[in-house]
Amino acid sequence: MLEISKLVKRYGRDEPVLKELDLTVEGSSVVSIVGASGAGKSTMLRCINRLVEPTSGSIRLNGTELVALKGAALRRARRKIGMVFQGFNLIDRLTVMENVLAGRLGYVNLYQAISRRYPREDIERAFTLMERVGIAHYANKRADALSGGERQRVGVVRALMQEPEVLLADEPTASLDPRTSEQIMILLQSLASELSLPVLINIHNVAQARTYTERIVGLRHGKMIFDGAPDDFTRDALDAIYGGIESPEEEPVAPANPPPAQRDRGLPHDAT
Ligand SMILES: Nc1ncnc2c1ncn2[C@@H]1O[C@H](COP(=O)(O)OP(=O)(O)OP(=O)(O)O)[C@@H](O)[C@H]1O
Ligand SMILES: [Mg+2]
Repeated sequence: MLEISKLVKRYGRDEPVLKELDLTVEGSSVVSIVGASGAGKSTMLRCINRLVEPTSGSIRLNGTELVALKGAALRRARRKIGMVFQGFNLIDRLTVMENVLAGRLGYVNLYQAISRRYPREDIERAFTLMERVGIAHYANKRADALSGGERQRVGVVRALMQEPEVLLADEPTASLDPRTSEQIMILLQSLASELSLPVLINIHNVAQARTYTERIVGLRHGKMIFDGAPDDFTRDALDAIYGGIESPEEEPVAPANPPPAQRDRGLPHDAT
């Protein structure tokens, strides 16, 4: 279970980016984090894995307080936090298997890492997981020879190789076509329940958040302003999170070709 309490993050002297966030996510639950650009979604995930230092508050993962950890204890805790990225973050010139085994780097000793002599159990686990997500036949292919969807499956398996207790995904489908994105969302949903893993997904595609996750958290300017089931995620909630668009009556007559700033206003194109 992940328990975030009164989490504050302030970069320098600026206004806090996260303002006393509270969020509890149980095992096997998949939560979408939505919010306009700059709302603080990535900052929240980065506070959990301590890529950024929280200013104050508490983040507990299965009872362990992450905020206070340092040195070896922090490295041990980080192994329990799997991360999946929009850009996949694979090493292109390495094979799929080598990329996947990189998920074990927090566990093996330096000699094993440098010589790439991973324990037999790690290789077996890698094959089991690669089979599970349908990429085992690519084990010896270079990562850069794969499609985006296949690369993201490698990213997911690498994260799972850490034997994580929570999986964080920062816009994992934003670089993928719609059909492939859906497949990745379904995969994350299934893995959460198979592995009893809490999964947090930052996502801009509201339609996919509603379809493939059971809970949606909406951030606006670093505050949580929605936390509920997709069915409760109404038009009003959407407007509150992203800012509404004025009705046509209130809108001045728009020029035929509005400047980009005006065109970009309003709801994301995929919002429903
Ligand atoms: N390292 C940093 N130093 C200073 N400010 C930062 C830093 N990282 C993020 N910010 C600021 O914090 C705010 C939240 O950024 P964050 O990346 O968390 O937003 P986001 O919700 O993930 O946005 P997006 O949807 O565009 O990915 C933004 O105003 C951003 O400029
Ligand atoms: Mg972000």
